[in-house]
Amino acid sequence: MEKRYKYDNCFLDVAIPIIEHEEYQKMKNIPHHHGCVYDHCLDVAYFSYKVALRFNLDVESTIRGALLHDFYLYKFKKAKDKNVLVEGYRHSRTHPQIAITNALKYFQLNDKEKDIIKNHMFPLGFPRSTEAWITTLADKMLAIVEYSSRLRSYFQLKYYRIAFATSNKENE
Ligand SMILES: [Fe+2]
Ligand SMILES: [Fe+2]
Repeated sequence: MEKRYKYDNCFLDVAIPIIEHEEYQKMKNIPHHHGCVYDHCLDVAYFSYKVALRFNLDVESTIRGALLHDFYLYKFKKAKDKNVLVEGYRHSRTHPQIAITNALKYFQLNDKEKDIIKNHMFPLGFPRSTEAWITTLADKMLAIVEYSSRLRSYFQLKYYRIAFATSNKENE
């Protein structure tokens, strides 16, 4: 297999039919935390796959369900005139249902894969299988990593702006 991805072949054998699908590729244009939903879903799926493999679980369903857990295809915008918390809550509640509706349009899913997608927003959803719990936890863990890297970049930028402004003043 061509070296286009940072993931291993066992993962890619299952993932390629989904990630190279025309509709799935659209997630590259949907922003998410520090990057795009496409990268986030691949990272969550790869991490979940490694855990499922380690514990001898259903690796294929884990990869497919995790890849599709955020297949919602719209940009979440925080409108200025609306309460960000309310909008965030609404998005948290509705996007798993939107993701499963989209996923069923393009892919055939088994019950475990549906469970992973529908219930990944615990405590708003309740995962029924170990594989769904793994994806739920991987999603939360990676969201924290992604947010903290975004915050780090934000504060680094602030720091450089302040440092640069100070050195400019000193040189005046
Ligand atoms: Fe999600
Ligand atoms: Fe997610």
